[in-house]
Amino acid sequence: MTKTILVTGGAGYVGSHACKALAAAGYTPVSFDNLSNGHDWAVKWGPLVVGDVLNPGDLDAAFAAHKPDAVMHFAALIEVGESVKYPEKFQLTNVTGSLNVLQAMGRAKVGRIVFSSTCAVHGDVGGALISETSPIAPISPYAKTKAEVEGVLADFSVSDGLKAVALRYFNASGADPDGEIGEAHDPESHLIPIACQAALGQREGMFIYGDDYDTPDGTCLRDYIHVTDLAMAHVKALERLDAAAPGVEAFCLGGGVGASVREVLDCVKKISGVDFPVTMQSRRLGDAPSLVADPRKAKTVLRWTPSHSDLQTIVKTAWAWHQKH
Ligand code: UFG
Repeated sequence: MTKTILVTGGAGYVGSHACKALAAAGYTPVSFDNLSNGHDWAVKWGPLVVGDVLNPGDLDAAFAAHKPDAVMHFAALIEVGESVKYPEKFQLTNVTGSLNVLQAMGRAKVGRIVFSSTCAVHGDVGGALISETSPIAPISPYAKTKAEVEGVLADFSVSDGLKAVALRYFNASGADPDGEIGEAHDPESHLIPIACQAALGQREGMFIYGDDYDTPDGTCLRDYIHVTDLAMAHVKALERLDAAAPGVEAFCLGGGVGASVREVLDCVKKISGVDFPVTMQSRRLGDAPSLVADPRKAKTVLRWTPSHSDLQTIVKTAWAWHQKH
């Protein structure tokens, strides 16, 4: 019998790619999304339940109707800058919303969850590679909510026997290589989509936020990881939970290689063939100089092998998607 997975935030960027990977692996993904940031067109591999994690009744109805075997929990607010301005919104959606999901799982006797976390729970490690054992020291309200939920998962593993995996993403990027889905945030704040929009003439140009960092070319280094590779890690994490004992296990999902803002923009210019204007700006509040993963644990324990995460493939798939979308 096909296993059903309830995917909160399944109409969003990473969630929709996870649904595609789940379907390819033989699961039925049921997307649970309030469509505030997600898109109904991104739900293609299973049913869509329009509901809100802040409404326990919506969650109970989804569990009753679809009887999922496990949950993948993506539904959250994600914009770091917005979290600094409106921390209460982030506490509510990300922390209370996650508690609601866990309590609904308890009522429905569902004991396995893969949680969408972030490398930002580790804060600024001063340029060292970030692994699961790096200190938890979130800086932004957004990252604090993700760290808090990881703690709640650990508590529920003791109280309720919950089995959980927390996947700490580095910079999710790129688009489905088949062009079926891709990144579509509104407003957009991420580097690669903004560069693609600039190349398409949808904005007059763009800014680099700071070239005075202590990095090889002075701009920030990030570990860009293809969203299809992230999606595959979720399927592997789910399969690991089948045989796991109660507890919460974390994995850092990055490629282990940093690319600078300048390198990314050069790559977008080369692939698009458009030399869009780029203006230097002062540093953006909250940006760490360098965030690069040590992904050895995910590679050995989950047997996860990123295969789309070289910068060329990330930018090519993002560019193809933005041209169409
Ligand atoms: N950048 C620019 N110009 C832009 C947009 C971004 O120079 O127009 C720079 C940023 O300053 C940063 C880099 O490009 O140095 C990457 O910025 P993104 O906004 O694309 O991504 P972030 O690294 O800020 O954020 C991502 C996720 C967050 C997560 C964070 C962890 O989007 O959810 O990684 O650091 F919390």
